[in-house]
Amino acid sequence: MEAAQQLKTLIKSFAEGDDAHFYAVAMQMAAAEARNGNQKLADDLVRTIDQAKSKTHQANGLLKKLPVNGAQKDLNELLDLIKPHVTLSNMILEDSIKQGLVRLIEEQKKIDLLLRHGLAPRRKLLLVGPPGSGKTMSASVIAAELGLTVFVIRLDGLISRYMGESISKLRLIFDSMKQFKAVYLFDEFDSIATSRTDSNDVGEIKRVLNSFLLEIEKDQSDSIIVAATNLPQALDTALLRRFDDIIKFSLPNSPQIVEAFEEGLKVLEHLIYFNLASTVRERAEGLSYDDIFHICAELVKESILYGDSQITKELLVHYIDKRKSPFK
Ligand SMILES: Nc1ncnc2c1ncn2[C@@H]1O[C@H](COP(=O)(O)OP(=O)(O)OP(=O)(O)O)[C@@H](O)[C@H]1O
Ligand SMILES: [Mg+2]
Repeated sequence: MEAAQQLKTLIKSFAEGDDAHFYAVAMQMAAAEARNGNQKLADDLVRTIDQAKSKTHQANGLLKKLPVNGAQKDLNELLDLIKPHVTLSNMILEDSIKQGLVRLIEEQKKIDLLLRHGLAPRRKLLLVGPPGSGKTMSASVIAAELGLTVFVIRLDGLISRYMGESISKLRLIFDSMKQFKAVYLFDEFDSIATSRTDSNDVGEIKRVLNSFLLEIEKDQSDSIIVAATNLPQALDTALLRRFDDIIKFSLPNSPQIVEAFEEGLKVLEHLIYFNLASTVRERAEGLSYDDIFHICAELVKESILYGDSQITKELLVHYIDKRKSPFK
């Protein structure tokens, strides 16, 4: 395979999560380098591949290692593993949010000191805020900062998949928290609180919510529990009491909008001859961080596909407006 083709296959297998193929192509590339007389580079590549392989192996092995009374297969289906790779410095955060996250991270890092004084570190967090404001990302950041894995649990999926059995499945998850310290993210938590009108069994949803309340109250593990929701009003006060801290996320304000665009368009910096800050500051109000990074990605793609001269203020404005009113 020639180099360009190999590179394409490499990226494709990475995107598809096909580890075996990815490593096979990487090894072919190393072999080609060796054949071309670049022995040192070839050796380096092989070493890097070996290291990466052993890391992937560890991560994939994690779920298998969960020693929960023969229920590993069930757990595998209930928990999605995400490998955290973002840190606090990758996030644009208001001070109050940052302090909330840092506080939990610090208390967890100094867990022994707190326990010696008979104090429990924070570990149950409720994240509230609009879509794309950084809730899921924060769970990942906490995990990365503490060197832990994140397991994502979608409660609505749990209910629809395991009708009648959801409570026992939920217990399984709480059992695994004791056995395996990690960040357990109950994502889109509101979906069960608000999905009472659709075809789901209302009784089942109520039972799961109550059971979740009981389990979270009872939980004595040292895992970190993060629940994320868009709709705080859908949660009753009984639920709110169960958390050590509630962190409220919001859409970016003007300076944060500018910061996000500057970050997202960093690679095109040398091509931007218009005033970026004044272009986006007000126009992008109401968009989320997620929206902003999507717009930036569109521009980066545009420059790759159609050339750098495409990067104009008009194009940026076009993508912002389109994101704000997609059906216009
Ligand atoms: N505060 C932030 N700083 C930097 N990037 C952010 C921030 N918030 C979100 N992003 C970007 O937006 C993406 C989506 O954010 P995330 O998944 O955390 O949103 P969310 O609040 O969980 O949304 P949802 O309610 O839809 O689940 C992130 O992967 C990241 O690229
Ligand atoms: Mg999310």
